[in-house]
Amino acid sequence: DLSPIDKAKFVAAKRAVEFVESGMKLGLGTGSTAAWMVRCLGERIREEGLKVVGVPTSTRTAELARQVGVPIMSLDEAKWLDLTIDGADEIDPQLNLIKGGGAALLQEKIVATASDQMIVIADAAKDVAQLGAFPLPVEVIPFGWQTSKALIEEMLVSLDVLGRDCTLRMNGDAPLVTDEANYIIDLHLKRIGNPRQLALVLNQIPGVVENGLFIDICDKVVIGHGDGRVVLRD
Ligand code: A5P
Repeated sequence: DLSPIDKAKFVAAKRAVEFVESGMKLGLGTGSTAAWMVRCLGERIREEGLKVVGVPTSTRTAELARQVGVPIMSLDEAKWLDLTIDGADEIDPQLNLIKGGGAALLQEKIVATASDQMIVIADAAKDVAQLGAFPLPVEVIPFGWQTSKALIEEMLVSLDVLGRDCTLRMNGDAPLVTDEANYIIDLHLKRIGNPRQLALVLNQIPGVVENGLFIDICDKVVIGHGDGRVVLRD
């Protein structure tokens, strides 16, 4: 028996997997909601003989895909993808997203951008009027990360955001290290007035590899509710 939150994630994932057709090359997202999607995909492969190949966005997702029988390849082998299905931390009415709560934003953005279509799956709590309550993850290279952090803080002063706290994401006593061997700085902005502008200026800062704002990348959202209802938006 699933808790309401897991039920919401599961029904969203299951509905999104119905968009998958044989022959597709798929981007496989990361996180607890995306994990349901990978399991549902494994089920369709076993039960219907669905023929697909997946490009995982993290070592975690690659591991799960192997476990549940979803064939995988690298993005360079696949070259181009038909569809990416991934979770998100926040979704706004324009379908702009905050991602990276699971620290996989860099591979997630590369894979989603290499796809004809991106479908985001989420529980209703992720559906927000304005982005920013969830801390915005920014991936930086470890070299000089404190300088990059200071530059980010300085840059935030001139932008339409409410909060300016930036924190290095930790894994116990040490900095969290991403799949690409980088660090994550979380920006506690509370409200992001202009996500498009923020996404652009963040990536201008030396040491910043990528930020968790996904602008004009998501095409469709599948929102799951704890009672099993699913709402689609595009
Ligand atoms: C991973 O880096 C993130 O972008 C996830 O997609 C996001 O954190 C959502 O995760 P959950 O589905 O576990 O909430």
